[in-house]
Amino acid sequence: MTGTPAGAQETEAAAFVDRLGINDEFFWLRGHRPEHPVEVNDYGIVNVYGYKEVLEVVGDPKTFSSDVAELIAGDVEIDPEFSDGTLLQSDPPDHTKLRKIISKAFTRGMVAALEPRMVEITHELLDAVDGQDSIEMVNDLAYPMPIIVISELLGVPQSDRDLFKTWVDRMAHSAVALTSGDRDLDEDVDAQAAMRVVPEMFQYLREHAAERRTKPREDLLTKLVEAEVDGERLSDNAVVNFANELLVVGHATTSALLGNTLLCLDAYPEHLSAVRGNPDLTPGLIEESLRYLSPIATAYKACVAEGELAGVPVHPGQLVAISLSAANRDERMFARPHVFDPYRDPNPHIGFGRGIHFCLGAPLARMEGRIATDILLDRFPKMRTDPDNPPSFLPLPHVISTSELPLLVR
Ligand code: HEM
Repeated sequence: MTGTPAGAQETEAAAFVDRLGINDEFFWLRGHRPEHPVEVNDYGIVNVYGYKEVLEVVGDPKTFSSDVAELIAGDVEIDPEFSDGTLLQSDPPDHTKLRKIISKAFTRGMVAALEPRMVEITHELLDAVDGQDSIEMVNDLAYPMPIIVISELLGVPQSDRDLFKTWVDRMAHSAVALTSGDRDLDEDVDAQAAMRVVPEMFQYLREHAAERRTKPREDLLTKLVEAEVDGERLSDNAVVNFANELLVVGHATTSALLGNTLLCLDAYPEHLSAVRGNPDLTPGLIEESLRYLSPIATAYKACVAEGELAGVPVHPGQLVAISLSAANRDERMFARPHVFDPYRDPNPHIGFGRGIHFCLGAPLARMEGRIATDILLDRFPKMRTDPDNPPSFLPLPHVISTSELPLLVR
């Protein structure tokens, strides 16, 4: 892969990313554009880097299926019982029907109503580190906050929070070990957990879903068991799988968003002081963070019909890696793509995807990002990264996320 930095903004981008030590696979973050918007690598994987070309893929589910389980899971066997009810890997017409039913339950109103609780949860987590000279952003806030929010949204009792966290830890640990090929971690990789299945959690959710059928409550599990479109409802199994999907796709991503936003603010002190004085700027800041350091750097589709992308022929059976992160820096779409600019308007980034699979949790993620950022800025007038203790990143090829982010707060 080649490409030449062409100007001050690329140099600025490269300096920022080099300082952070972000995964080398994200070469475009340094201002090096890939030579072509679509390239096939030695394994036959189609890498799509261009904005327009990514939109072509997500806009054509007949050629590019979201059912990538077989191409990605390899020899790890997952019982199909665990995929019934999941949106991300389904195609029309199943996806259309499922998304309609789920959207009836998981509404914007339900998310908006969570705001006061989200503020309390953020303060509660930060109270635990009050008075310290430094905090570790990921462990202290970014990692636990989205788990607590999703479990409360579902209606998991507060007393079972830690249980939930243990299951999510297991999934996250195994997924990192399996995907990064880390030898030390490899020894205790739980393949099922790495494929985001923890049987105890399924059993737990199944019992709760069944209970909601007879004893409804004001929570998402109840709304999911009650949701009905054209006389069809979700089975208990589908409800449980979707609840699990929310944790899988809504946790690490939101956690990444919080860390990435703070890194951007740290690198651009002028924006940090502007946002401190004016919380109305936070929503624009969050959008630009999603564009500049997209948490899901790459999403995957499976080619299921003959096609063509930017003149490159694609064939059934090929894995298609859509680089949301590279597309979000495509200079054909964004002026000065390597400049972090929270005032960018419009900002048509595709950090939440696009098309039929557009992130269902986007309103929730935006709200969490905004609330956590505002509260952090409010509580810590002097927050900055620690030169003696730099951040580290998840060693995964498809996400941009800190795994540790020490911040000096005095
Ligand atoms: C889908 C990103 C947070 C639930 C997606 C997709 C992306 C994405 C890129 C589409 C993937 C594709 O087309 O293959 C993000 C980012 C987040 C975030 C960057 C945080 C900053 C959340 C949250 C939830 C959530 C908090 C819910 C609690 C979903 C669901 C889908 C999805 C259910 C599947 C939608 C469908 O297939 O119809 N997300 N997401 N996400 N996201 Fe998010």
